[in-house]
Amino acid sequence: MLRTHTCGELRSEHADQTVTLCGWVDKYRDHAGIVFVDLRDRYGRTQVKFDLAEADTIQQWARGLRYEDVIQVTGKVVRRPEGQENPKLSTGGVELLVRELTVLNKSKTPPFEPSTTALPNEELRLKHRFLDLRRPDVQTNIILRHRMTKLVRDYFDEKQFLEIETPILGRSTPEGARDYLVPSRVHAGMFYALPQSPQLYKQILMVAGFDRYFQIARCFRDEDLRADRQPEFTQIDVEMAFVQREDILQTIDGLILRMVKELKGLDHELPLPRYTHADVMERYGTDKPDLRFGMELVDVADIATACGFGVFTKTIETGGRVRGLRAPGAAEKYSRKAIDELTEFVKNYGAQGLAFFRVKSPTELDSPIAKFFSAEHQQALIERLGGQTGDVLFFVASTPKVTSAALAALRNRLGKELELYDPSEIKAAWVLDFPMYAWNEEEQRWEAEHHPFCQPVEEDIPLFDTDPGKIRAQSYDLICNGYEAASGSVRIHDPAVQQRVFNFIGITPEDAEDRFGFLLESLRYGAPPHAGIALGLDRWVMMFAGCDNIRDVIAFPKTQKAADMLTGAPSTVDAKQLRDLHIKTDVPR
Ligand code: AMO
Ligand code: AMP
Repeated sequence: MLRTHTCGELRSEHADQTVTLCGWVDKYRDHAGIVFVDLRDRYGRTQVKFDLAEADTIQQWARGLRYEDVIQVTGKVVRRPEGQENPKLSTGGVELLVRELTVLNKSKTPPFEPSTTALPNEELRLKHRFLDLRRPDVQTNIILRHRMTKLVRDYFDEKQFLEIETPILGRSTPEGARDYLVPSRVHAGMFYALPQSPQLYKQILMVAGFDRYFQIARCFRDEDLRADRQPEFTQIDVEMAFVQREDILQTIDGLILRMVKELKGLDHELPLPRYTHADVMERYGTDKPDLRFGMELVDVADIATACGFGVFTKTIETGGRVRGLRAPGAAEKYSRKAIDELTEFVKNYGAQGLAFFRVKSPTELDSPIAKFFSAEHQQALIERLGGQTGDVLFFVASTPKVTSAALAALRNRLGKELELYDPSEIKAAWVLDFPMYAWNEEEQRWEAEHHPFCQPVEEDIPLFDTDPGKIRAQSYDLICNGYEAASGSVRIHDPAVQQRVFNFIGITPEDAEDRFGFLLESLRYGAPPHAGIALGLDRWVMMFAGCDNIRDVIAFPKTQKAADMLTGAPSTVDAKQLRDLHIKTDVPR
C-alpha cells in the first residue's frame, strides 16, 4: 500500500506517529515560508504542512504543487496549536508535518475545482465527470447509493428471496415507452430489445417455482427525459408467488422502514398510509401527491353556482368544476406581480386563469373579483377552505382534469415556496385501486394504465361489458415526497383472463401469440398466483440524498438529450460495423 492512513482518519491520538497519506491537492496556501496543503481523498481532508525550517528542498517542491495534483506525503502527525483547530474537519485537531513528498502525478489545470461551491454548468461537469465525482457531495450520494443497494440485498436475502439475473438482450415487452433496439448480426434484419423492465422474465420465474425473486435490475426506456427520469435506470425488482396484494405491501413496508431507519436515522409510521387512487385524485389532484404537507384541494361547486362571477357559474353549467386551495400566510409573500406569475404557471397546465382572494378578515375577502361575491358567499368560501387572515385562496375553474392538473402543480409550487415542510423528511404512502384502463383520445382506444399483466379486481370483471373505465386494477403505487417511487400489481395467472385483457386493449390473439406467446404458454403449465412490484432505486437514493436531480445520484448519467458527455455516446460507427449488422443509415427523414 502506498499509504498508512486515509485523509479522513487522523485524530489527536495519532500525534507523534509517522504516517504516509496519499490524495489530491484540494487547496494550497503559502504563508510566509510555510506551505499548507489540504489533501483530499474520499474519506476526508487533512491539512499537511511544509515548513521551510524542516526541509529545504521539499519546500521548493511544495511551492510547485497545484490543484488536483496527486501526491504522497510522509511525515509526523502533530496536534494543532490551541485555537487553530478546525472543527469543520474531522481531522481538524491535527496536521501532518511533511518530511517526504512524492508527486505521483501532476494534473492539468482543471476546468473547475472539485472543492468549489459555485458549481459550473452541468455539461462541463458531466464532460469532466472524473473531476465532478471527486466532489464530496457527489461522493456522498454514490456512497449512499451503495449502502442502500447493500441494505436491499440483505433485506431480501434474509427473507429467502433469490437474486436472479435476467437477460439484457431480449424481446420487447409492452411497458409503454419506446424500446432501445439492438440489431442482430447473425439474424439479418432482426433485433433484440433492451428490457424496459424484467417484467415477463420475473413472471416466468414464478411459473418456474422461484417463489421469491428480487433483482437490482437495469432498465432501458427511450422516452422524454425529466429531472426524475433517465433512459437507463435501476429498479429494485420483486416478485412473489402464492401471495396476495397484502403480502407485497407488507414486504415493502418493512423495506422502507429499514431504509428510513438505517440510512436516515428516522422513523416512519407502519403500515405506510394507504389511499385509493380516487381519494388522492380528489384531495390532491394527482396520483403522486407530496404528503409532507396538507393543502388539500377543495370543491366549491355549490358556491360557484350561486355567486355572481360568470367564469365560475358558466364552468359549472357546462359540466366543469371549480376547486381551490388555501395558501397559508401567503398574502404578504405574494405581491400582485408574483400572483400574475402563478397565473402564467397554471396556464401551462391548461387553466385559463387563476382566481385569487386575500383573506382580509375571518369574514372578508380582498380581490379584483371580490365584488362578484356577496358577503355571504365570501364567508362561505373562507369557511369551506378554512381561511385565516393573511392567507390567499386560489381557485381554478375548468374541466375536472385541468382543475386537478393545475391545482396539483400549484400546490407543489406553493408548498415549496412557503416552506410548508421539512425537506429532509421522508413521507411514503400507498396508492391503491388504480383504474385498469385509460381511454386514449388520440388513438380512440382503451389502453392498460399500468401494464396488461395486471389482474383486474374480481368484482369489477362484469364491467368489461358495461363500463370498462371503472374497472379497478389490483395494482399499487408507492409514492414518496411527490414522486412515483414504486409500482406493481397482482398478475393475471389464468391464460383465458390474460387473453381477454389483450383482446380488450386491441391485441388480437394472433398478435398476442406472436409477441407474448412464451408468457401465455408458460401460464398454461401450472402458473401459481403471483404478484410483484418494482422500486425506482435512483429515485429512492435521490430522495434520501435530498436532491431533486436524478443525475446527481448516478455515477455516469446521461443528459436531458440522452447523451453521455464523458464518452461521447451515442456516436457514429464504422461502415463495416453497419454492414455486418445489415444496417443502412441513409434513410431519408
Ligand atoms: P414501472 O414502469 O412503473 O413498473 O417502473 C417502476 C418504477 O421505476 C421507476 N422508473 C424510473 N426511474 C428513473 N427513470 C425512469 N425512466 C423510470 N421509469 C420508471 C419509478 C417507477 O415507479 N415491471 C413494472 C413493475 C411491476 O409491475 O412489478 C414496472 O417496470 O420509480
Ligand atoms: P377575466 O374575466 O379573464 O378578466 O378574469 C378575471 C380573473 O379571473 C382573473 O384573475 C383571472 O385569472 C381569473 N380567471 C379567469 N378564468 C379563470 C378560470 N378558468 N379559473 C379561475 N380563475 C379564472
